[in-house]
Amino acid sequence: MTGNDHQPLLETVDVSLRFGFIEALKNVNLTINRREVLAVVGDNGAGKSTLVKTLAGFYQPNDGQLLWKSEPVSISNIREANELGIASVFQDPEFCENLDVASNLFLGKEKRSTFRRRDDEGMYREAKAVLRTLSSVIRIGQPIASLSKGQRQTVSIARTLLSDPELILLDEPTASLSVMQTAEVLSYIKRLRSENHSVLMICHDLPDVFAVADRIIVMRQGRIKGVHYTKETSYEQIIAEIAGVNASGQPFEDERQTQIVVNNMIAQHHLIDRSMKRNLYETQ
Ligand SMILES: Nc1ncnc2c1ncn2[C@@H]1O[C@H](COP(=O)(O)OP(=O)(O)OP(=O)(O)O)[C@@H](O)[C@H]1O
Ligand SMILES: [Mg+2]
Repeated sequence: MTGNDHQPLLETVDVSLRFGFIEALKNVNLTINRREVLAVVGDNGAGKSTLVKTLAGFYQPNDGQLLWKSEPVSISNIREANELGIASVFQDPEFCENLDVASNLFLGKEKRSTFRRRDDEGMYREAKAVLRTLSSVIRIGQPIASLSKGQRQTVSIARTLLSDPELILLDEPTASLSVMQTAEVLSYIKRLRSENHSVLMICHDLPDVFAVADRIIVMRQGRIKGVHYTKETSYEQIIAEIAGVNASGQPFEDERQTQIVVNNMIAQHHLIDRSMKRNLYETQ
C-alpha cells in the first residue's frame, strides 16, 4: 500500500439536487475509498440513480461539493468524469447489433495508426486483453447479437475499462439477469476490485449485495440513511432501514404497515439460499 491508498477517491459533501419541487438528493455525504465495492440500496425513487448520475457527470448538484482525491471538482459532463477516471454503465447499454464485440468496444473512439488509418490490429489486441481480464467465454470477433444479457453487460463494463478508470459506477448491473449470468457479472465486479478499481453499484437484490459489497449504503427519500460494513450488518438491519424503521428496530412511521413490509421483504429474501448463492460466486 502507498500513502495515497488511504486517501478517499471521491467524496460528496452535503450534496443536494432538486428536480423542480422534488428533492432527489438531500445533504448527501458519502466517501468512496480505493479498491472497494460499494452497493447502494433503497426503495424505488430513493434517489439511487440520481446519486450515481451526479457522480457520473449527468447532473450537477444544486448545493454541496464533490471532492476527487480530496480536491474540489465540478463534473460538467460524462467526458469530464471519464477524464478524471470515473466511468459509468447504465441499464440496457446500447450496441450496434451488426458489429462484433471488438468494434462495439471501440465504437466512437476508434484507435488510429499512422496516416489516421483505423488501427484494427491494435483495437483487437486491446479488446482481447480487456476481455481476458473479465471473461474467458466471450470472443472479440463474436457478433454482439449472439451474446446473452449477462455477456452484454460484461462487454459494456469492458468498454469502460479501456480508459482504465479508477472508479466504475454501475446502475443495476444484475437487473433482469439469470442466476448464472448474475454470478458471472458479480465475479467480474470482484475481479475489478482485485485489480485496484473501485466500484459503486446500485443493486436491488440483497443476496447479490451481501455477496460482493464491502460496504452498503442505504438511501431513502433522497437521503443516506445508513452506511454499513457488510460484515457488520444483517439483511434485517438493511431491510429495516430501506423500509424506514430506526436503528433500534422501532418503526417511526405507521407501525403496523412498516412491520408488514419488513416481514414480506425478509420472507422474500429467505427464499434464496444465501450460502448456496455465495458459494456460487466464490467458485467463479
Ligand atoms: N429527470 C428527472 N426529472 C424529474 N424528476 C426526476 C428525474 N429523475 C428522477 N426524478 C425523481 O427523483 C426521485 C429519485 O429518483 P431516482 O431515479 O434517483 O430513484 P431510484 O432510487 O433510482 O429509483 P429506482 O429504484 O426506481 O430506479 C424520484 O422521485 C424521481 O421521480
Ligand atoms: Mg434508479
